[in-house]
Order: sequence, then structure tokens, then C-alpha cells
Amino acid sequence: MRQDSRAVMAALLLGASPGALWAQIVEPTAPPAAPEFAAQGEPVFVNRDEMYTYRALDAYQEPEFVTAFVEAGLLPPVKERLPAEPLVYEAANMPDGVGVYGDVMRHVIGGRPEGWNYVGGQSQGWGGIDIGLSECLTRTGPLFMVNPEDLQPLPNLARSWEWSEDGMTLTVNLVEGAKWSDGDPFDTEDIRFYWDDVVMDPEVTPLNGASQETFGAGTTLEVTGPYTFTMTFTSAFPEQVLYAMAYGTFCPGPSHVLAPLHPAHGGESYDAFRNGLPPEMMSVPVMGAWVPVEYRPDDIVVMRRNPYYWKVDSEGNQLPYLDEMHYRLSTWADRDVQAVAGSGDFSNLEQAENYVESLRRSAEDDAPARLQFGPRTIGYSLYPNLSGNGWGEPDEREQAVRELNRDENFRMGVSQAIDRQRLGESLVKGPFIAQYAGGLYAGTAYYDEASTVFYPYSLESAAAHFAEAGLADTDGDGVLNFPEGTAGGQNVQLTLLVNGDYQTDKNLAEGVVAMLEEAGIQVALQTLAGNDRDATRDSGDWDWQVFRNPTEVVTVVQNTTQLAPTGPTTSWNHRANEEGELDLLPWEQEMVDAVNAFIASRDPAERQELMKTYQRLVTENLYGVGLVAYPGALVINKRFANIPAGAPIFQFNWAEDNIIRERVFVPADAQGDHELHPDTLPGPMGIGEGPVSAS
Ligand code: GLA
Ligand code: CA
Repeated sequence: MRQDSRAVMAALLLGASPGALWAQIVEPTAPPAAPEFAAQGEPVFVNRDEMYTYRALDAYQEPEFVTAFVEAGLLPPVKERLPAEPLVYEAANMPDGVGVYGDVMRHVIGGRPEGWNYVGGQSQGWGGIDIGLSECLTRTGPLFMVNPEDLQPLPNLARSWEWSEDGMTLTVNLVEGAKWSDGDPFDTEDIRFYWDDVVMDPEVTPLNGASQETFGAGTTLEVTGPYTFTMTFTSAFPEQVLYAMAYGTFCPGPSHVLAPLHPAHGGESYDAFRNGLPPEMMSVPVMGAWVPVEYRPDDIVVMRRNPYYWKVDSEGNQLPYLDEMHYRLSTWADRDVQAVAGSGDFSNLEQAENYVESLRRSAEDDAPARLQFGPRTIGYSLYPNLSGNGWGEPDEREQAVRELNRDENFRMGVSQAIDRQRLGESLVKGPFIAQYAGGLYAGTAYYDEASTVFYPYSLESAAAHFAEAGLADTDGDGVLNFPEGTAGGQNVQLTLLVNGDYQTDKNLAEGVVAMLEEAGIQVALQTLAGNDRDATRDSGDWDWQVFRNPTEVVTVVQNTTQLAPTGPTTSWNHRANEEGELDLLPWEQEMVDAVNAFIASRDPAERQELMKTYQRLVTENLYGVGLVAYPGALVINKRFANIPAGAPIFQFNWAEDNIIRERVFVPADAQGDHELHPDTLPGPMGIGEGPVSAS
């Protein structure tokens, strides 16, 4: 412990008066100015309908090797495999125009596939693998280049929608005649299954956590035809729902495969449903551009082009251009190393520890990859478990911690014990890192500096707040104790849940542990691999956690319900108990009210005001304790064409969606010899199956 905080502790032990303690408190300030760091590359802004439309073309083409399947009678002709009016990418909007077929994008990921049942809640290992497999009703990633006046989700599987005059009902029209990668029709059977047996079934949670609340409590869905359905709401024009129809909350799974596994349709159990599509199961039907055809544990997932993909370019070439996709199963740090070295093709450079070396290599003339920084949209917070209601079945110590977490003095103490400057420098020196107050990120559309409350680093102030929270080092071992009668008056010991797949997460967590220890709080790291971390996070069995914030703090309009405990399971750090009860603190209720009012409002000025209120509540009350925020860079091999200018690694979605991979191509003279299964297509679904050739 440092000298100055020892003095405060000594004063506490001597029974200093509360007045003297208050004198130690350092008042909150405005957030410190961030170092200048200009994003490299500006998007070319367009309206949504300049990007793509839905229409019939005179003729369609496919790669020659696919035509061989048609000629062998193994596939219907391309026109019959496509919808009557496919999604057509306009050549004028493609950065490098119409492309050519061939080559591979070699991804490297740090996660591992649990299986292919995305709607059943299984992770595919992230890194763009599920984003590519699961097409959704609307699409948001490319919105970074849409004119602000036209900012609304892009159509995707939903080609259009209309509001009723009173705004209470939305009619959604699906693209007609699109097919799953095995040729089965995509229609409202898939919508019905997703809604009734996934969203509305409390026993099932899809990977990115859609629930009834995501679409508004009381919202109903009715199928009105093979390609149309309506949603009916309890308030008028909840336009937010169009964002909820995008990744990752309205991406239906193949009902023809999944329904028979679901208990509502004769399936054995929910567990069997969730695990019904193990990673060894190949050619599971998808709506995405590539289909898994090979899986080697801890090695690679290989995908081949989906012969039924429902998108084309304006010359009628069926997409995707790339015939194969690789996902090397390695580590996230290795993704950076390989992309920069050229043995991998793509990385979201987001672990700041790798910035200096990656920049150095990318600046060399013979660098295989292009590296481009975007805005500061990577940020980390420390989250207290705020459920005092039994979520996660806490024991006595854990419950005492929950109650401490619910005391604002404790949260302020934690925040002021953290030296964000030092924490940032431990990751990378230079102009990257900004100190982060929590809540919405500086520089994003709804951010308001005047509504942002920052608790500056001060161990004296932290000590005074901890004393206010009733903590004192009663046994003189340098660690603060619970008051007598709480958790046996023991030393305060917290656990900190962290995702061990990322070096940055681990480094930040270790920094936090050391800093809290200086302030007299003992913290034990609970470091788990990604999938286990996610399961533990959702089980509620943790005291504090540190994680990289999701999209809602960047765009607000996405996953908006996750900004606060608006429903039993929407929050990351405050969920309901088994009885469905939330025990909201008064300021949390105000947060919920602001978020709900934001969702219900169509008035831009009012929405801005509501987000100011939200930002003040979040940062003043430390719903999460902000740590650091910094920019990320897109690293992509120079041989790829059609990469949109200014594509951020993270905004409305991750770069894997933002760059629109189905229309990315490699010019013929730049193509490499990377295909592992040339001239093949996905084979029959099954364990032990693989890609097949025409002859
Ligand atoms: C992980 C990676 C991100 C991004 C996403 C995509 O979270 O860390 O960079 O690739 O997966 O889901
Ligand atoms: Ca002690």
C-alpha cells in the first residue's frame, strides 16, 4: 500500500470524524481531454438504395465449376436457385466494381465453436464466423457509410416493411424464393419457429441474447403469408425494432432442421436441442455466403461457397466472389501477427499491446497488409454485480459483496482507486488511449461531455469513500474488512471475472487487481476461456467483471434495451432472480425510464436529451466503472478489392460485416493458391460428411 493511503487508513483506525473523512473526498470532474488521434480514411457516404436493390436480371452467372454440378444434374440451374428478385449489389457503389471468382479469405480466430446452433445459444467462436453464417432480417454493419439523413437499418432477408397508419403494426415482407444452402425454402416457417420457439420460449436464448424485451414487452408476431408477417406493438412507431431485426437478434435458424429437435415439436430436451448441431456436423443449412465443410478441433474450420446464396452483382454474377473461407482456430493475438505477416488475411487490431509492432511492420514497403485506424470505439469497463436479489445464488460472502456493490460509496471508491493513465500506458504508450468515464463513448453520436461525470484517481478519496461504505481494516493487515456482523467481519475479497482469450482483458484485469490492492481491497481473478466466461457471466455467479463494451455504447440505437436493466435479462450486470424480480436502485429505475422513453420517442431532440440524462445517471452512479477507450485498426491483406473506405473495425457491427464480405474479391492476377477444397461445394449434412465435387 502506498504511503498516503496508509495515512488515511491510520486516520480511519483512530476513529477520525466523518467530517475529516469528507475532507479527503476529491469531487468528480469533466472527463480529461483525450489525445488527438484522427481516424484514417473517410467513408464515401451514400443512401441505402444506392448500395443495393432487389430486382430480376436478364441472366445470371456462377463460377464454372458450379456449372459442372448443374450439368451433372446435382444442382438446379442458377436462376432456379436464386429468388425471383435477388438482392442486387450495384456496381457503381462497389469500391472496385464487379469482381471475379476465386481465392479465399483466411481468418484467424481466438474462440472455439461449441456447435452450429446459433439460435439455440451456441457460440461458433466469434471473429466473424457467426456473422457470416447467420443472415438477419435487416443489416447494420455497412451503415457506417450511409448518409445520416437516410440512417435506418438496411433491408436484408426482410426486403421491405410498412408501418400501419397508427404505428402500432409493422408489416414485414421477406425476400421471396430465397433458399437455405441445402435448397429448402426460406419463409415464414423459419420466422414462426424463431419467434415462438426461440424468442418467446424462456428456456431458449440465442447467442446474442434476444428475448421478448428486445422487441418490446407485449409485442406479438403473426404470420400472414409465406413471405409476410406482422408485428404488433404496445406503443406507436417503435422504430428501434428495425435495429432489433438485425444482427444478432433476428437471425433465424433453419426450422426444417431445428424444429424437430425442439421440445415443443417432440425434441427430447432443451439440452439436446441446444447441442443438436455439434461442430463435427458438416453442411448445416445456412443463409450465409459460405457453409462449413470441414472442422478440425483447435486447427481450422473451412467453408465453401453456398450454391443457393441469394445475392448477386448488377451483372448477374451470383455472390460470393470468394470460393472459400478459412477460420484458423488459434488465438486473438495470433490473428494480429498473422494478418500483419501475410499468413492470415484479416484482423481487427484491437489489443493495444500489439499496436506498435503491427504499425512498424505495416509501414514497410513490402508489407502484405494494409492497416487503417478508425475512431475510438474499443473501450473497457469494470462492472459490479448489482443484483441483490439472489441472481447467481450468492453465498454469504458473495451476498455481502452484492450489497457493497449496491452502495454508491463503494463504487466511487473503486473508481477513484483506478489510475486510468497508468492503466492505459501499461497497454501501449502514445496517442491511442483515452481515459474513459463509462457510459457512451466520446465522439459518438449521442455522447455529451457536459453530462459525463468523471471520478479522478485519488487514493485518499477512495479511502474516504470506502470508510463511508462502512469498511475499515479492523485487524490491521492492510486489507479493509466488512463491518462486524457482515460476512463475519472478514477482509473484503472480491472476484473479478475476465475473458482469458484476450491479452488486453487479462492485462487490464491485472492492473485493476494491483490498483485495488493499493486501496485495501483484495481481488482474486476468475480467468476463464471465452465460452465459459460467457456462461458464468450469464449465470450471475461473479462479483465484478471487466469486459470490452458491446455496440450499444457506440450507437445507442442497437441493443438499446441492454443499456439498462429494462427487462429481466437485458443487463450485463443486473439481472432478475428465479422469480423474475429485479431489485432496481432508484437511479437504475431512472436509467430504465430514460432508455424506455428513448425507445418510444421519434423526436430527435428529445432522444438527444434522454441520452444526456442516461449518460449522467450511468457515469455519476457508476453503473459501470469506465477504464480506457482507444481506436482499433482494420488490417487486411492488400490483395483484396472492394474494401470500403473508412470501414471501422467496430461501430454498428464488427468489420467482418462492415466490409460486406460477399462482394469482396481478389483480382485474377493477385489470386493466391490458398483453396483447400478447390472445385467443391458443401455436401450432405452430417457428421463425417465433407465437401463434394461434381465428378
Ligand atoms: C471477437 C473479436 C472481434 C470481432 C468479433 C466478431 O469478439 O475480438 O474483433 O472479430 O469477434 O464477432
Ligand atoms: Ca483486514
